[in-house]
Amino acid sequence: MKDYDKMRLCSLAAEAQRSAYSPYSGYKVGAAIITDDGSIYTGCNIENAAYGPTVCAERVAIFKAVSDGKRNFRAIAVAGGDLSNGAPPCGVCRQVMNEFCTEDFEILIVKGQGKAFDSFTLGELLPHSFKLN
Ligand code: THU
Repeated sequence: MKDYDKMRLCSLAAEAQRSAYSPYSGYKVGAAIITDDGSIYTGCNIENAAYGPTVCAERVAIFKAVSDGKRNFRAIAVAGGDLSNGAPPCGVCRQVMNEFCTEDFEILIVKGQGKAFDSFTLGELLPHSFKLN
């Protein structure tokens, strides 16, 4: 599998954060996911007055890709809040990643005001995951 530009994926996640629709929490999240053919899909969190329909940035990016016929992913970058310490993905988003990705799928958490990132694998963030077998 070809390498990819991790800092660029982080920048795209931070850029997508600007589209966040979060009038209720005031918390903005952006995500950018890269497929194994090098396509990149971005997402932002989209909230709702009824709260329950709210979707996270990561799932918006993943669902945009899947609805475009892409199901093989290399990595996702997530940019949340003030980009100081980084915002790891919620449990529901980890489970959605688990639907399409293997344990070595890379999760980049943007931090340091967008100049740095932490890197984890899905296996590290969702150990002993549920999968139908
Ligand atoms: N949020 C995300 O977009 N991704 C996550 O992984 C965690 C939370 C959003 C949902 C909601 O709009 C806001 O952040 C506050 O929870």
